[in-house]
Amino acid sequence: RPVDLTQMINDRIRDVPDYPKPGVMFKDITPLLADHTAFAAVVDAIVAHYGRGTIDKVAGIEARGFIVAAPVAYHFGAGFVPIRKQGKLPSATYAENYDLEYGSETIEVHKDAFAPGEQVLIVDDVLATGGTAKATAALIGRTGAEVAGISVLMELGFLGGRDRLPDLDVHALVTV
Ligand code: PRP
Repeated sequence: RPVDLTQMINDRIRDVPDYPKPGVMFKDITPLLADHTAFAAVVDAIVAHYGRGTIDKVAGIEARGFIVAAPVAYHFGAGFVPIRKQGKLPSATYAENYDLEYGSETIEVHKDAFAPGEQVLIVDDVLATGGTAKATAALIGRTGAEVAGISVLMELGFLGGRDRLPDLDVHALVTV
């Protein structure tokens, strides 16, 4: 984790207080995405961590995860698979439900998105409580594919997401 990459990311993630509701500090990645050098460095760092040729498919999590996951898939020479919120995928799906602070969320994957034994890297922008990542790993497991790990731009360490994913290789470019 080179210091300059960490700083490049930290300098380009904007803290927005009280969004989307009072008391929440939102991590806005749009300044980072708008900077070609920083965005490319992030994509390259994720690919370098696992290495080209090790990953068959990249699973991107709706919606901000898609933005990082798609160029990562391209640079791995891997396919891209969307993990979507309920009702968005047109063909037969597996679904996993998980709890949020208030209420719950359901995410889905196409049943035929992966071949058995394929190595799948999950990519998202932020790891917070880990609920989304855990449900995504469960979805991938149900297809018969293997989860190689999860890469995120930013880990909110104080929420303990990593501890909820003991069986997963969690790779974060920055941790706050
Ligand atoms: C955010 C983020 C991760 C998830 C992390 O997505 O992009 O997917 O929350 O939270 P967790 O670790 O507590 O599960 P969000 O649900 O806001 O969806 P969006 O990208 O469509 O806005």
